[in-house]
This record gives sequence, structure tokens and C-alpha cells, in this order.
Amino acid sequence: MERRNFIKITCKICLLGAAGASIAELSACGTAYPVFKTTVLDKKITVPLSIFATNSLQIVRPQGWYYDIAVQKTDSSYTALLLQCTHQENQLEVNGKNGYSCSLHGSVFNKNGKVMKGPAEKALKSYKTLVEEDKLIIML
Ligand code: FES
Repeated sequence: MERRNFIKITCKICLLGAAGASIAELSACGTAYPVFKTTVLDKKITVPLSIFATNSLQIVRPQGWYYDIAVQKTDSSYTALLLQCTHQENQLEVNGKNGYSCSLHGSVFNKNGKVMKGPAEKALKSYKTLVEEDKLIIML
């Protein structure tokens, strides 16, 4: 085999391996939902209502926060939950459209933040929300 062909083939193999690893990492993170990155201003987070047009569940990631906030639209009301497990503070994952689960010890919370399966005993922290014109305000 010529040196040039050897290099081409080995590069393709490396690229395929890297792509496979990336896909595995993405699926391992557990969230197929878009993440809306934003900042906190005066203990409030502002989210455009238009992001709920494509999906009633949005993951909001405030800058500098370790935990995301899941915002679920139900009819015309919104529920904002901190995705921090109440057992030992692990970051939660979206569990389909039915709620959130913890990969550390298996706690499961429903979409309103209520514990469905322990060891967690307390519901998720929720935030008050307010609709102002075309924006959703999450009060922290
Ligand atoms: S940290 Fe979530 S179940 Fe233990």
C-alpha cells in the first residue's frame, strides 16, 4: 500500500471513531431538548414565549449556574423546576415528557416535580412564573 493511501485510510478510520464517540456522548447526556442559554437579571430570567412554539418543554440554562431549569408549558400555564435532585444534588435528566430522573441513585420526579420514586423524598424546587407580553419571566 502506498504511503498516501495508508494515511487516507487511517484518517477516515480516525474520523469515524471520533464521530461514533461524539454520538455516544450526546446520547449519554440524556437530553434531546434544546437548551436556551440566558442570563439572570434582578433575580429574574426572561424567556421569549416563541421558543415554546416547537416544544412545550424547554431547558433553560442560566449563565454561571450548575443546574438547568426545566420549563414546561401546559395549556397557558408554565412550570419552572430546578433540575437538581433533592436527594444528593445530582443534575437531573429529562425522562421523556413525563418528568425527570436522576442517574445517580434512580430517583424519579414527575413533570410537576413531585417524587415518584426515591430515594429522594422532597419535590423539586419550583419557581414562580409570570407572562408579560411575549415573554415568560421566571422569578428566582
Ligand atoms: S442524587 Fe439523585 S437519587 Fe441520589
